[in-house]
Parts: sequence; C-alpha cells; structure tokens
Amino acid sequence: MILTDATAFIGLFLNAITKFDVIIKTMENGKLKQYLDQAWSMLEANEHDAPNHPILSTNDPDEIRKSLDHSLPLKEDGFGNVLKAFKRQVLPYINRNTDPRFGAYITGSGNRMAAIAEFIKAFYNQNGLKWNNSPICSELEQLVIKWVSEFIHLPDHNKGVLTSGGSMSNLMVLHFAIAAKFPKREMTGFYGNKPLTVYCSNQTHSSIDRAMVFLGLGRDHLRKIDVVGDYRIDVSKLRETIEKDLASGFQPLAIVGNAGTTNTGSIDPLNDLADLAAEYNLWYHVDGAYGLPAIRVPSYEHFFRGVERADSVIINPHKWMYVPFEASCVLLKNIPKAIHYSPDYLFTENADERWESSEHTIELSKEFRALKIWFTMKYYGADKLTHFVEHDILMTSYLADHIGVLNKIVIDPHYPLSILCFRYEDPDLNSAENDNINIKMIRLIESRGNVFITGTRLKGRIHLRVYFGNPERKKEDVDRLVEEIRQVNAQVLLE
Ligand SMILES: Cc1ncc(COP(=O)(O)O)c(C=O)c1O
Repeated sequence: MILTDATAFIGLFLNAITKFDVIIKTMENGKLKQYLDQAWSMLEANEHDAPNHPILSTNDPDEIRKSLDHSLPLKEDGFGNVLKAFKRQVLPYINRNTDPRFGAYITGSGNRMAAIAEFIKAFYNQNGLKWNNSPICSELEQLVIKWVSEFIHLPDHNKGVLTSGGSMSNLMVLHFAIAAKFPKREMTGFYGNKPLTVYCSNQTHSSIDRAMVFLGLGRDHLRKIDVVGDYRIDVSKLRETIEKDLASGFQPLAIVGNAGTTNTGSIDPLNDLADLAAEYNLWYHVDGAYGLPAIRVPSYEHFFRGVERADSVIINPHKWMYVPFEASCVLLKNIPKAIHYSPDYLFTENADERWESSEHTIELSKEFRALKIWFTMKYYGADKLTHFVEHDILMTSYLADHIGVLNKIVIDPHYPLSILCFRYEDPDLNSAENDNINIKMIRLIESRGNVFITGTRLKGRIHLRVYFGNPERKKEDVDRLVEEIRQVNAQVLLE
C-alpha cells in the first residue's frame, strides 16, 4: 500500500516536472511592441473613420448580446484573432465619449497622455493595499491630492484619498462625518441612538441618497431642501428644517453644499452653509465633483467663496479635469481613520511613517489611480487645464446664443458653468404636451446617434441637457449640435 502511494507520488512529481519545465512568460517584449503597434493601427483607422459613424451605439441590448461570443475560451488564441474578435464584437458598440459631439451626462473626454499612463499602470500592476506593497502608489496618491487641492485653490485641504468616483467619494465623506462626530459608532453601530439627519438641496446628486442607504442612515433622514429660482439652496428653509429636527429628536449630522450641481451646474451659497454648519456644529461637506475646476477662472472664483471652510470636499478629475475614468478625490484638512481595525496579515513595521491609504477608505486592493492624474497634470500643467475649462464655458455660451434663436426653444437661464438646459415650448400647448415633444426629441437624438445629449427635469418640466467637457470641441461642432436639434425638433413636430 505504502509502496503504491509512493509510486503514484513519484509519477505525479515527474509529470509535473515535465509539464512545468517551461518558463512561463505571459508575453515576450518583442511581441508586446508588435501587438501594441497593431492595436494602435486599429485605433487609428477607427478614429479616422469616426466622422462617418454615429457617436454612440444605437443597438438594442439583444443585438449586442447576440453579437458576443458567449462560449468560455478554453484554449489560447493568437493576438490577431483576439483583435479580430474585438473589432467585430466590441468595437462597434463603443461610444465615442471622446468625440466633441458627445455631450451627455457629465462624461469627461479624458486625454491621450493619461491613456499612456493607463497602459503603464497595467504594465506594472501596482497594488496600493499597503504602503510596502507599492510605496510609490501611496506616495504619488498623496502628491496628486496635494496638487489637486492647490489646483482648486484649497491648499489646506491637502489630505485625502483617491476613489473610483464621486459616488464612492460622497459615501466615504459621510462615513468620515460619522467617524468624526460620533467615533463610538465604529464599535456600537447606530443601535439605540437618535437617527442622524443630513441636509442638502433638492438638486444634490443622488450619490448622497445612495450613501444614506449604503451607510444604513436611511433615505428618510436625508432632508432635501427646496431651492430658490437659480437652483441654489434656500438657506432659511434649511435653518427651519434643522431646528424642527432638533425639536423632534433627530441628530443633525452634516450639511452638503453643491459646487456645481449635476442638473444645471448651480453653486450653493457656500459661505452661508458654512455659517449654519458652524452654528449647529455639523460636518460641512462640499460636493464639487464636477464644478470645482471653474474656481480657477478668475471671473468665477467668487461663486465658490466659502468652500475653503468645508470639512470635506470632493472633486472628480475624471470629469472636468479631463482624466480618464475612474478618478475621484476626497479632500480634507484633517483625515480621520476610516476604521481602527487592521488584521494580523496586514501588520507592518514603521506604521507611523507610512501613509496607509486603506486605513482611510473602504478599498484595500487599490489600482495605481494617481498615475493618470500625475501624467495629466504634469503634461498639460494647471494653466492649460484651466484654459480647457474656460474653453468649455465659452462653448456653452456659444451654444446658448445659437440654440436660443431656434423657434420655440427656451433656454433655462441659469447655467453658470458648462451645462445648458433648454426645452421646446409652444405657448399653445399645455405643459404635458410640451413635455411629450421634449421626451420624443431626447429619444430621437439618441436613436439617430449624430450627437449624444440627454434630458432632465427642471421645475417639474422635461428639458434637454447638454454637458460640455472636451477641449477639442470647436464652434463647428456646436453648430452641428444646433442643426441636429433643429432637425430633430422638426421631425418630431411632423409626427
Ligand atoms: C455633483 C456630482 N456629485 C457626484 C457625482 C457622482 O459621480 P460618479 O458618477 O463619478 O460616481 C456626480 C456625477 O455626475 C455629480 O455630478
């Protein structure tokens, strides 16, 4: 019996030696260069062809699913075949987010310098889960956080973490607010305590609603305060609501101010909010995910006064700093630990000297996100990035001037930054009929695929909404957008 086992073991061992007696290399350097050249040729050809194609995939989900090969690849394949499959199954459905005709949601254009950084990042496959696992990942993260804080004129908010996006950053910020104001809750949770309430305007991004859910605070405890005419929070209503909550046994936690709302780019009276937060001893957070880069434009700086008084600020380099997705910064003057627990397997020496990012955020494994921000800021520099932002603002005014002259197109006049909302409005039709026309226009624009813009609801009425965040946009691109709106409107009215 023992003999049989030993023979079997030796057999296995010999088998393993012969099987693994080859040095495995995922790819030879020569091949890598060759494949990169091939990939670039494909991208270049595709870019060259771009003006003749829709800028977004107009296929329905079933078409896309059917074109994908769903069988698990069992055997290795040559790069040529992989590239062919990519060209057939994936590339046709890639939206051209980098195209100046793309004006949907808040989709930044990214930039090519950072695309190089993304390749390098993946090449070295750094993981910043601990300082010693990639010292430069931690150090560069802190450096770009400092640069971004200086970029938006908040040099004191030079501590923080990079996250995947504004939603994750807002979640972390509300967590920090709890950690700072009610540190015991790290161990006790919320049981038996007064419900915590958070205050923001009804124009605040839904990531705050989502944070309320994911942190267990409950959406019932998010107080969405009305706005006044220009979509800025009504500060006297905010005060009344806080007072009412205090009298009714709630525990106010935080005020969230907007430095550029998603709907219209409006900026709350940030100083007034800072005053209220100080008066009621609340955490003060400013969501500048989109709008904060405009603080660098001299004529816009005054809009943002008071942001420097915030406990926390977020900004998304992947929006108006032209960094490719995903890149968001949480910025604070003092950064508390997100959690005071570290397992044995993450123990390291010299803990005080080393910046451990994972102690300040939910993420443990962490990509080298800082690299693309570093490349972008180094290559373009703050002045040029500011120039890009100014250019987007100018193009937005240009759009407003030209779209406003179309028949029965009414512009929402509050567009401080690079978002413009407008709607078709026929005085002879009722609101619902007008809404219906605007909805049809939004649908038709998407299905034609010549430009991509989306819609929203302002003061209860459907609007078309354009976001500009691409320095390569020219006046002719805006003219084409205006012409597309005119044609789409005419077609919908004919139906
Ligand atoms: C003001 C604001 N905050 C937060 C977010 C959420 O950012 P993300 O989409 O990166 O999660 C957005 C997204 O548009 C936003 O405009």
